[in-house]
Parts: sequence; C-alpha cells; structure tokens
Amino acid sequence: MKLTESVTWVGKIDWDLEKFHGEEYSTFKGTSYNSFLVRDEKTVLIDTVYRPYADDFVRKLKEVIDLNEIDYVIALHGEVDHSGALPKLLEEIPDVPVYCSPQAVKSLQGQYHRNWNFQTVKTGDSLNIGEKTLHFVSANMLHWPDSMFCYMDKENVLFSNDAFGHHYASDLMFNDLVDECDLMYQCLKYYANILTPFNKLVTKKIDEILAMNLPVEYIMPSHGIIWRDKPLQIVQKYQEWAADYQENQSLVFYDTMWENTKIMAEYIAEGIRENSPKGHTVKIMNVGQRDKNEVMTEVFKSQMVVGGCSTINKGILSSMTGVLEMIKGLSFKNKKAASFGSYGWSGESPKIIHEWLEKSGFTMVEEPLKVHWSPDEGGRAACREYGSSLAQHLSK
Ligand code: FEO
Repeated sequence: MKLTESVTWVGKIDWDLEKFHGEEYSTFKGTSYNSFLVRDEKTVLIDTVYRPYADDFVRKLKEVIDLNEIDYVIALHGEVDHSGALPKLLEEIPDVPVYCSPQAVKSLQGQYHRNWNFQTVKTGDSLNIGEKTLHFVSANMLHWPDSMFCYMDKENVLFSNDAFGHHYASDLMFNDLVDECDLMYQCLKYYANILTPFNKLVTKKIDEILAMNLPVEYIMPSHGIIWRDKPLQIVQKYQEWAADYQENQSLVFYDTMWENTKIMAEYIAEGIRENSPKGHTVKIMNVGQRDKNEVMTEVFKSQMVVGGCSTINKGILSSMTGVLEMIKGLSFKNKKAASFGSYGWSGESPKIIHEWLEKSGFTMVEEPLKVHWSPDEGGRAACREYGSSLAQHLSK
C-alpha cells in the first residue's frame, strides 16, 4: 500500500490479536506491525513484523521488490513484534547493512544469535538515500533502551516506531479515515499502560524534537494508523499525558468474595459523588471482572483512586494483587488514594492496599475504612461518610 510518493507500507494487520506482551496487554481492536519500504536512489526497509508472520512477510515483500534491491535495513527497535522477520529476511540478503542503535545490536544478537552487518547510529547521524536523507534520533526508553526514531526530509516523515502508536487494526491506514474517538481511546490506553513510567523522558524527547523545528507532514508509528491529518495532534496529546495527566474523575476499584466489599464500594462512590466538585465523575470497577489494562487506563485518568478488597488468608484477592503490581510498575504521579474492605475474621486487606498504594507514590488522604461482616445501615452510612470525606480532597 502506497503511503506517499516514496513510502510503501509492507507490514501486517493482525486482526485476531487479543493479547500483546504475553498476557499483559489486551488488544480488543487487534493491531498492526508497520513495515515501510522507502524508495529513492537507494531502497530502504524500515522495521519488519512479528515473528509468526515472518514467512508471509518475506513472501509478500518479494512480490513488491527483488530483495537484492534493498540497500539498507533500519531496525528502529529490537522487540520481536518489529524485528521478528529479520532472521528470515536476512537469510536471503545476509550482507545488507542493518542500521540500528548500539543497544539494538545487543537486543538483536541476544534474541537471534546472529552477527548481521550492523551499522550503529545515534542522534545526529544521517543516511543519504538520494534525493532524501534519513536522520536518526535516539529515543532511549521510549520505550526500550534501544528505541530510535528516524526522520525523512523532503516528504517530512517521522518514523516513530512504538511512540505515537496504538493497538488498532484498520485497513483505512490514515487517522482522518478512522473513527476518531476509537482511535484516541486506543492511544490513551497505550500511553497509560506502556509509557506512563517514562513521562519525564517523553517530555524531554518531545521538547528536543520540537526544538529541531522540523516540518512534519506524517508520523508513521510501528503500530496502528498513520498520522497525516494534523499529525502533531498526537504529539500534543503526549505532552498533556506526560504532564502527570488527570481528568475530573475518581475511581473506586475493588474485588469482593460475598458482595460485602462491593456494597462498600457503591456507598463510598455515592459519598464521593454527592460531595465532589461539579462535573466530577466517579467510576466503579470490579477488578476481578474487568480488563486490567482498562483499569489502568481509568487509574491514569483519575485524580483519586480508592481500592477495596475482601481479606483472604490474611491477604488480598489475587486479582487485586495483579492490579496493584501493575499500578506500582506504572509509577503514577500526583494522585490521591484511600482503601477499604469488609472482613469477617482477621481483616488485613485495607491496610495492605493502603501500604501498597502509598509505596507506589500515591498520597493517602484518609486511614483505611473497615466494615465487619456485611455493612448494615450504620456500615453503609459510614461508607457514605467516608466517601464524603474523600471528596474534600478533590481539586475544585
Ligand atoms: Fe511494538 Fe516495543 O514493540
């Protein structure tokens, strides 16, 4: 599929994918692995596709070009969803130079155990391909140490690899042709679940790129659609999201064995809602039932989170453990939190959740709320009152 005069998309749309990074990331809208063939006086292939599609990728690439006409391969990132077809491709053209960052050499050698013709590049290095020149920009930790961007002048294309991407399968290919709400939700989910820990680096990298004053007509990430209509809109979104983003929202997340903690969740949410600033929304999610990445997306959007759980074996339910581990890893900043839970015997869970959120960087605004057995009228009132106190900590 031709994207510009010189760039042809030769990637793979993965309509069936439901999970990415093992079981870590839900991809309800599928994804794509974008690979780009750039033709000038020299011919360049930028990235490949995920390993299971390697044979098909090489077969179809041969329909587009004699592989011996490829002068350079660029590997912007070593992760297997982009480098997975390199072994198959380079079996056929073993001497072709592979341009990548020094860290990518380590990751590619570590994964494939081959000594390809690596040519390492860094910010400031460029590769003339005829009328156009490719300029390399290190994108260290966006999101791996080996990640790199590449900017092509004349057509003003930023090949951004994972950055500005999203797991969204569409053969319409361009942002102005797909449903905008659908697309932006996938971008937000992708940022929240993958890039949040790197907020400071995102801001720094965007400032660095904007300071170069490069005209950008297209942003071509390695997943999802191509940004051609107001391409910098996604850069502006990244600037907002990287600034410890939050919306006018609180989230009550919980898991429950016999519905008692669920009752608490609903009354706490009611207390927050009745006393929160105008326009504030309070969402409730049962983490035992809901998709964990969607939970993280709602945490990302919240000013305050309130976590609750039944106690089991002096601890918390396993779904809550998984969610709290994800929350810790994502290093959310500038968020408030509290905890709660009903219990029958020992009742450790509210304290465990409190400590976990505190060590994850949340500001704990109230002591944990515990209700013994099922909340009766007094217990329900206590939950509503707790929600009311929590609402006093929300920004107006
Ligand atoms: Fe799309 Fe970091 O791989």
